[in-house]
Amino acid sequence: MYADFLPVCQLGDEHVVDGFDCGVLELDRWLRRMAKAAGTIGTGTTFVLASAEPVADEPVADEPVFDGPAADGPAGLAVLGYYTLAVRAVEQDLRSRVVTDVLASSVSVIQLVRLAVHCDAQGVGLGGELLVEALGRAVRAADAIGARAVVVEATDEPAYRFYEHFGFEPLDGMRLFQRIDVLRAALDPAA
Ligand SMILES: CC(C)(COP(=O)(O)OP(=O)(O)OC[C@H]1O[C@@H](n2cnc3c(N)ncnc32)[C@H](O)[C@@H]1OP(=O)(O)O)[C@@H](O)C(=O)NCCC(=O)NCCS
Repeated sequence: MYADFLPVCQLGDEHVVDGFDCGVLELDRWLRRMAKAAGTIGTGTTFVLASAEPVADEPVADEPVFDGPAADGPAGLAVLGYYTLAVRAVEQDLRSRVVTDVLASSVSVIQLVRLAVHCDAQGVGLGGELLVEALGRAVRAADAIGARAVVVEATDEPAYRFYEHFGFEPLDGMRLFQRIDVLRAALDPAA
């Protein structure tokens, strides 16, 4: 259905988000209504995988968008998948799960706040590619500013198993984590 993709990039005005449907309403609404605003105020940055072929911009009737395009707007790039990254601190009682040197006064982590692939594009490897791209970006950010792990929060059991499949370990509840040094070695075994 989608032959060509553009390189993953930060969510921008050229991206069409209104038709995004990953099967989890909360994740659809985040992209449609909140993601741009979160980027603007600095609570999370969203990166998208978009189709190279422009599509008509048609807002969803019952889904008012926070900062979206006007009806009958110009053609844009359909978003097929996205993820959002943010910086967080791990709660004190969970620090020893993430690092052994728990004398540190706080343990900063990069949180993969959300990750989703459009229903039409699921099951062909894009979710895995987006996750690896997100983890690479997280490792580079950790190298630049310091962070000890990537934490993910699964929305449901299938999502939890998806992250387990990629080697994430239980943290608490629906949260899982992996240490930055483990991710760095996995992503670049020669380093
Ligand atoms: C979870 C999701 C991102 C997976 O994306 P996808 O494009 O369908 O997955 P892929 O085709 O890239 O699969 C990559 C690998 O993960 C495995 N996988 C996919 N879904 C899985 C699941 N629920 N449980 C275990 N493994 C899973 C695949 O078998 C594949 O394995 P392989 O590399 O060994 O062949 C997608 O189904 C989705 O958007 N779901 C709704 C939103 C959601 O749950 N997001 C995550 C929580 S925020």
